[in-house]
Amino acid sequence: MKTISKALAGAALVVASALPALAEEFRLGLITPPPHIWTKAAEAFGADLAEASGGAHSVTVFPARQLGNEAEMLQQLQTGALDMAFMTVAEVSNRATDFGALYAPFLANDIAHAGRILRSDTAKAMLAQLPATAGVVGTGYGMAGLRQIVSSKPITSVEDLAGLKLRITPFEANLDFYNAIGAAPTPMPLPDVYDALANGQVDAIDMDSELIWLLKYYEFSETVLQSDHMMFPMVGLVSGRVWAGLSEEDRSMIGELMARHVDSTIDTYIEKDPIWLEQVRDTGRTYVEVDEDFFADAVAEWNGIWSERAPSLDALRKVAAETAN
Ligand code: BEZ
Repeated sequence: MKTISKALAGAALVVASALPALAEEFRLGLITPPPHIWTKAAEAFGADLAEASGGAHSVTVFPARQLGNEAEMLQQLQTGALDMAFMTVAEVSNRATDFGALYAPFLANDIAHAGRILRSDTAKAMLAQLPATAGVVGTGYGMAGLRQIVSSKPITSVEDLAGLKLRITPFEANLDFYNAIGAAPTPMPLPDVYDALANGQVDAIDMDSELIWLLKYYEFSETVLQSDHMMFPMVGLVSGRVWAGLSEEDRSMIGELMARHVDSTIDTYIEKDPIWLEQVRDTGRTYVEVDEDFFADAVAEWNGIWSERAPSLDALRKVAAETAN
């Protein structure tokens, strides 16, 4: 009896691997609005997957938090209620603490250096943690440039940031940085930022140059601080449950195509980040360029906390040193 059922199971496996891949209609969620670079990359991924699978697979993209915020989408990925997402590594780091290492202040010297760090084997190797720690498969990294600060109050020194209600993306590594500065960090998801800045609910925001320019956050500024203080990586994710049900052929097709499209955002930001910053500078608002020294002890304090918490930090620092030019 045992032998028969083993033989049947074996035969089923052989049949399954010989069958053509089942057609799938995948759902992919993001929090970014339709014209955003991440959303465009998600749509291009869907089009390429449809073509590569001969029309068998399709991807419907749900931008602008239609399926919930990132914490909710990560939960849906874990249960298999959602198939795919392009998500901030920030949210992932709330589940998989080691990813906080990618937010080490001033790890990257500039945007091109950030690209090299994210494309390193060390950064890619971190993705292997995700099935066990977060129930998702990470296919590769993208990014949204480097982080800057827009303040509705004048900023001439780090002391001027002390006590300011400063919007941050909700994740621990960022909270620790602004606590070390002495600001009053206010975690807030991206879609709520414009109104909060406009109605004075926050005094300042931590943001990337694309959105400072395109969403006109700079219009609320007394000072724009070009600090380039952190990378802001994104990751292409597939639900671990959904992944487990895919054929080997589909896994490699989806994994490679998704990795290629999230990676393409790195090139876009490397090209456009300096242009957006120049456009913001050209508006005539007070625009101050600062470096690590501006933040005094805050960077050392952050490093003290996260060298304990993020095992990959040392290896990433090594990569950063090797890829700086
Ligand atoms: C943010 O939280 O600031 C953010 C999230 C996704 C893309 C860009 C920025």
